[in-house]
Amino acid sequence: MSGEKYEKMKQIRDEVVALQGGLADYRRENNYHAVLGEGSHDAKIMFIGEAPGQNEAKTGRPFCGAAGKLLDQLLEGIGVPRDSVYITNIVKDRPPGNRDPLPSEIELYAPFLDRQIEIIQPKCISTLGRFSMEYIMRKFGLSFELEPISRAHGKSYEAETSWGPMKIVPQYHPAAAIYNQSLVETLKKDFQILKTI
Ligand code: URA
Repeated sequence: MSGEKYEKMKQIRDEVVALQGGLADYRRENNYHAVLGEGSHDAKIMFIGEAPGQNEAKTGRPFCGAAGKLLDQLLEGIGVPRDSVYITNIVKDRPPGNRDPLPSEIELYAPFLDRQIEIIQPKCISTLGRFSMEYIMRKFGLSFELEPISRAHGKSYEAETSWGPMKIVPQYHPAAAIYNQSLVETLKKDFQILKTI
């Protein structure tokens, strides 16, 4: 791959890899990888999760464990090839023991996500879980529309960006559905809205 978008993404990767302290040190101690994201730099839909889990940190690929399998099935269900979208997280390094990311970690990594969004300029951001929902809704000036994820999931919110109108579609986190079949059904239904985008 080459080109301007690729170079900008590579620059972001280099900066994340070079971070010192906190989760970046934990990454080095465990021979983990930073997980920047994967998919098309021209994607119309961008999926944003929370933070890498163990499988992701070991491979450097987002959503490649159990939650990733479910995400693959959900994409297949709406006929969208995984490599046509862009998949990433707010936090690019694995928090120990899969704990929730701290506000300070979100603050540290979010500017890298912001730059990735600027590069891709998606028509739709689908957030996976409440951390990315809250961050993205606030970032695009929709704090006043923020609802608990139990009400926001599967809805489409209109945002204005410097590259035009963009939809924000919050989804439950696929990891929450691994042991909860009814949430799988909800996710399948909620993913249908993405087909129209
Ligand atoms: N959960 C996430 O939020 N992101 C991943 O990449 C994997 C699991």
